[in-house]
Amino acid sequence: MSARIPRMRGGVFACVVPGVPVDCRSELWMDGALMSEGKFIVFEGIDGSGTTTQSRFAAEWLRSEGLDVVETFEPTDRAVGRLIRLALSRQLPGREGEEVEAELFALLFAADRLDHMKGVIVPALERGRWVVSDRCYLSSFAYQSVGCELDWVRALNRHVRRADLTVLLDLGAQTAYQRFSVERKDHDVFETVEKMAAIRASYLRVADILEREGEQIVRIDASQAIDVVAAEVRDALAGLL
Ligand code: TMP
Repeated sequence: MSARIPRMRGGVFACVVPGVPVDCRSELWMDGALMSEGKFIVFEGIDGSGTTTQSRFAAEWLRSEGLDVVETFEPTDRAVGRLIRLALSRQLPGREGEEVEAELFALLFAADRLDHMKGVIVPALERGRWVVSDRCYLSSFAYQSVGCELDWVRALNRHVRRADLTVLLDLGAQTAYQRFSVERKDHDVFETVEKMAAIRASYLRVADILEREGEQIVRIDASQAIDVVAAEVRDALAGLL
């Protein structure tokens, strides 16, 4: 005999019939009740590709579908994330005016991510909440592998929780550069057209590798109008509901 267990969105507790076999790969038992683990969604792309805007839209849409959503981002606003922002603007204490080494960036981002995982992402997922992050490990694989070996960057990040879906907003470096140059004139260390072109190529290369390993990555043409991109993102997310 088989029985269907009611599953409610957003990790709401569902009743459990004792003795009924359940296929529950991503479900957790808590206090005798069954709880679904949340999904982890990450937005990625070069600077100016719209990760912040689209992750906000996505979180709003998921909420409108009845889900409990945590919005977050990297670099974080926690201790290591704050150091990273100083390094990005060449103001790391003791290294003012300097661009720090690619290896130091890789280590800082990995440390920030470990803290982010332990302090925010994993606890939320375990409570059944969905997590939408503006950037995560694919940023490190793409950006830091331009200056360091990809295998080493991956090794630093080997403990991270992998995304259930990564949305890669793909955009040409020239277009992206023009987009954010309209809004501000201070550029961080990765924001030159040459570097952005290399990082875009790196994103596409690393995404291929991760897809071959089984990760779910959807690539969206971010040169389209914002609402067209948002609609394509919603289509991709709908597959997870
Ligand atoms: P933001 O502009 O999205 O706030 O991100 C800050 C910069 O940090 C952006 O240029 C991307 C870069 N970055 C990395 O190089 N590696 C990482 O792991 C992350 C999360 C961001």
